[in-house]
Amino acid sequence: MTQNIIIAKNLKESLKGILNNLKCDNPFVLCDENTVKYIDELGLDNKTIITINSGESNKNLETACKIWNQLDNLNVNRNSILINFGGGMISDIGGFCASVYKRGIRFINIPTTLLGAVDASIGGKNGIDFENNKNEIGTFNLPYCTIISKIFYKTLSKEELLSGYGEMIKHSILFDKEEFFKLLKYDITKYDDRLISFIKNSVKYKDKIVSEDFKENSKRKLLNFGHTIGHAIESYQLEISKPLYHGYCVVYGILLEMIISNLLYDFSMEIIDEFSKYIKKNYGSYIIDNPKEIISRLIKDKKNKDDSKINFTLIDKDFNPIIDNYLDKDILEMIEIFNQKMKK
Ligand code: GLY
Repeated sequence: MTQNIIIAKNLKESLKGILNNLKCDNPFVLCDENTVKYIDELGLDNKTIITINSGESNKNLETACKIWNQLDNLNVNRNSILINFGGGMISDIGGFCASVYKRGIRFINIPTTLLGAVDASIGGKNGIDFENNKNEIGTFNLPYCTIISKIFYKTLSKEELLSGYGEMIKHSILFDKEEFFKLLKYDITKYDDRLISFIKNSVKYKDKIVSEDFKENSKRKLLNFGHTIGHAIESYQLEISKPLYHGYCVVYGILLEMIISNLLYDFSMEIIDEFSKYIKKNYGSYIIDNPKEIISRLIKDKKNKDDSKINFTLIDKDFNPIIDNYLDKDILEMIEIFNQKMKK
């Protein structure tokens, strides 16, 4: 299974061609209050817009019910097309609502953020949060296609760009060491034409993994690299009301998981030092000043088999990733090294 991913030179033309093929002349477009402002960029003569409130805190059953109610009121049928126009929150909830409505209607993702383009809109994971658990209810179901266009990147803040770039860095480590070093030399905040070729590679890498293990029984777990620690940092920062962008948490997670990989698989300390410098320059330094809080979140991670061991995806000295490393919960020594690298 390989997903249909289009890197559009001209978004309006690409979308028009796809809708013509689907014989759809009045698509439903799911937006939030931010992306609705850019709806003209889609160039649709006819459309029906459904707008929801933005933000992860609205990615819940209540919002899903609002979407289904609107689909009902608008007489959406099995032949209708839903276009998810926004960041990861929109493609997650829109993909989920479309996947189960009338046992499934087709949907198209048009990501407006870099994070959405290289991660959330690809791979067919759709869902909503439930009872404080992220993506607790959802489906594996691919969009009809994902159309990526760089026209939206000028609307993004430096932090949003760097956040998406964090996932691109992760993909490059898993697939192509040379690409990783190229990404470390590139300045994402300038988003010139080279960015498109980096995005192309990034989505190609993710698509390859997804095509080999759609339902995450084995290989797809590689994509969790940096995320065991990254999610713990993200949830801790949220709880202390100092939220950090997802991709920032992922790069800090990657660094700490590289340090674990050094101790277990001899991953190069020189590369760890180079990456630490890159992070400090671009993302800023992050100190884990409350290791107990991070460790308690690691223990609760849904990837663990029981609460005595933590599941990590790690990487060996030749950049070969290795899934299902179950480590003792005592990773204080590695956190110490992480903090030293961030302070130096
Ligand atoms: N974001 C990880 C995955 O799609 O599997």
